[in-house]
Order: sequence, then structure tokens, then C-alpha cells
Amino acid sequence: MASITPLIAGNWKMNGTSLALGEVRNLAAKLAESAPRCTVVICPPATLLERLSEIAAPAGIVTGGQDCHSAASGAHTGDVSAQMLVDAGAQYVIVGHSERRTNHGETDETVRAKSVAALSAGLIPIICVGETESERDAGKAEAVVLTQLQGSIPAEWPGHGIVIAYEPVWAIGTGRTPTSADIAQMHDTIRRDLESRFGERGAATAILYGGSMKPSNAAEILRISNVNGGLVGGASLLANDFHAIISAV
Ligand code: 13P
Repeated sequence: MASITPLIAGNWKMNGTSLALGEVRNLAAKLAESAPRCTVVICPPATLLERLSEIAAPAGIVTGGQDCHSAASGAHTGDVSAQMLVDAGAQYVIVGHSERRTNHGETDETVRAKSVAALSAGLIPIICVGETESERDAGKAEAVVLTQLQGSIPAEWPGHGIVIAYEPVWAIGTGRTPTSADIAQMHDTIRRDLESRFGERGAATAILYGGSMKPSNAAEILRISNVNGGLVGGASLLANDFHAIISAV
């Protein structure tokens, strides 16, 4: 089986001003004491990306954007291009987060175009998929996720790869998580789909779990097969909590 370096990514969402950079300094100090056994990524708001990247880099923490436009530049007021994220120090970008899909009407097609833009700029897209509660209740969770995967992943990608994040919408910010068996089943399904479409590259792609991951449940979730890391929202905002999750790897 392909060996996949675990990845713990923090998604700060629309949280954090200059003051929050102190948390990154705290995290850097903790990581200096014991090297993490995973890649650590922080995706702050775009306003903090450049300053945060400068603080994070010496500590081996990498950074990412939370979204990018599919175009390289142009008349898109308020948007940020993948190249701009690179310019601000990013190596990753989250695309297709359920909050973008819901609040901004992003479709699988939009997400795929953003992934292509990210890859062309040299970023690793963290492509998010996940079902709503009513879709799960209706027994459609796997079908929904497979459709999202089919539509959102570019047909091919360069050597630096892609990352998939499975985030059940009903588990985001709610304190609720699927059972370990349900997470295992979905991650196995995603792995099979990636392998059947992309062969060895699919076998080597990290699949993250996201949705109410916290210090108290991280170890249990991270030991499930085909869970190669986590995409962490609320618990990534404080250095102590995020470090505890990183240490659970
Ligand atoms: P929470 O960890 O706050 O549930 O958020 C998960 C998430 O949406 C990460 O992208």
C-alpha cells in the first residue's frame, strides 16, 4: 500500500486578526519542542496569509488559502487568485468547502475549475466533499460524495498532487461526528473511487476527515483506515487544541 504522509490542516474560516498571529507563535514554540509526525498546514483568512506564512515557515508549518478564483486575474471584485495565494506564501488551498458550496452556490464544476487553477499555480488543492444530514438520512451519503468527487476532481494533476477532505456537512461546527464505522466506510469508498480512476496516484492521495475534530476525538478518528489526517475548523484557532490534535497523529 502507498505510504501517505499524514496531514493536519487548520481552517480558520472568517476568524482572526493580527492578534491571532500570537497563536501561531505559540504553536511554533510547541512544535520546536517535539517535531510533528505530520505535515502541518494553517489556512488563515487571506488578510493574514503573508504575515502568518513568515512566522510559520521557520517552524516548518505550511500555509494555505481558503478559496481561490478559477481565473488567474481580471475583473472579479473581492476574489483572490491562486497565484496571489502563492505570492503570499501559500502551498495549499481549500476548494469546495461546504460553506462555499452553500453560501456562494459553488457547483462541482466551479470546484473543479478552481482546483485546476490551483494546480496550475503550483498549489495543492484540498478538495472538500460531504453529504448533508438529510442526504445521509435518505441513505444517499455515498452516492452524493461519489458524485462530488466525480465532478470536482480534475482529470489529471501534476506531481505535487491533490488532497481530498471528507467533511459531512452536519458534523461541521456541531460537535457531532459520524461513528468510526461510518467514517471508515466513507473513506474506503473514496479510496476505491480514487484508485479506480487514478491508479497509483489515487492510492497515494491523502484523504482527510473534517467536522468537529478536536483533541478528545482526534486519536480515535486518525487511527481509522484510510484517514490520512484532518481538516480542523474551530479547534485549529487555539495553539493548545491544534497542537493536541497534531500530537495525536
Ligand atoms: P469544525 O472543526 O469547526 O467542525 O469545522 C470543520 C471544517 O469545516 C473544516 O474545514
